[in-house]
Amino acid sequence: MSAPLLALDRVSSGYGSSRVVRDVSLDIASGEIVALIGKNGMGKSTLLKTIMGFLRLQTGGIALAGRDIAAIPSHRKASLGLAYVPQEQPIFQDLTVHDNLRLGLASDAGLAAGIAEMAQAFPVLGRRLRQRAGTLSGGEQKMLIVARGLIARPRLMLLDEVTEGLQPSVVDRLAEALTAARRDRGTAMLIVEQHLPFVLGVSDRFAVFKSGEIVDSGPVDAAAALRIEAHTRL
Ligand SMILES: Nc1ncnc2c1ncn2[C@@H]1O[C@H](COP(=O)(O)OP(=O)(O)OP(=O)(O)O)[C@@H](O)[C@H]1O
Ligand SMILES: [Mg+2]
Repeated sequence: MSAPLLALDRVSSGYGSSRVVRDVSLDIASGEIVALIGKNGMGKSTLLKTIMGFLRLQTGGIALAGRDIAAIPSHRKASLGLAYVPQEQPIFQDLTVHDNLRLGLASDAGLAAGIAEMAQAFPVLGRRLRQRAGTLSGGEQKMLIVARGLIARPRLMLLDEVTEGLQPSVVDRLAEALTAARRDRGTAMLIVEQHLPFVLGVSDRFAVFKSGEIVDSGPVDAAAALRIEAHTRL
């Protein structure tokens, strides 16, 4: 059997000596979409930052397609096929939409094809390629950072609460774009979300995160929403 695309093996991490993520083990197969769900402050963003290498591992290991990536610096992770859409929106306000998208690519080799692909996935961006990104609405800016992650055709994309504050039509557009990326290019994803209908609509499996640990996981089936709600009720 081939190695999973992403393998987290008893990963612990945190800030300084404090531990936020505790002994997390999770595999994601090529082309698989996994939802990571949990209430505020449970350590979901901390786990994604650890995978990206912004936080040091306290224990455990992280492998991408069988290769240990824990020691690989964050800025080299993109060349391994990892894309990260952080919870905070770092778009470049003074650059055009086109040039923000360009920053998602390591070189200009696939630029024209990538721009065309993203203009098709997000027509609203396609119509605004020459517009300054700072003039986009909040929802359009969110689409832009997701498109900037997708343009490099990553093998694995980590998304941190991309639907926060978005109106339903934009949420639907994002769901379509993510589903298409998986269908057409086999992109696997780990999606941190509080918007259950959105994330369960695109995911194959879920994991519930509580105080830095996975307390339940399973396939996204008819029972999934009830199981998740039982863990995340206030
Ligand atoms: N830079 C930091 N320094 C110290 N502690 C931090 C830092 N960032 C986060 N924490 C703490 O780590 C814990 C988990 O935070 P994290 O942002 O990972 O949660 P989350 O599950 O993503 O929450 P949310 O749903 O609100 O985004 C919280 O108690 C938080 O206060
Ligand atoms: Mg978070």
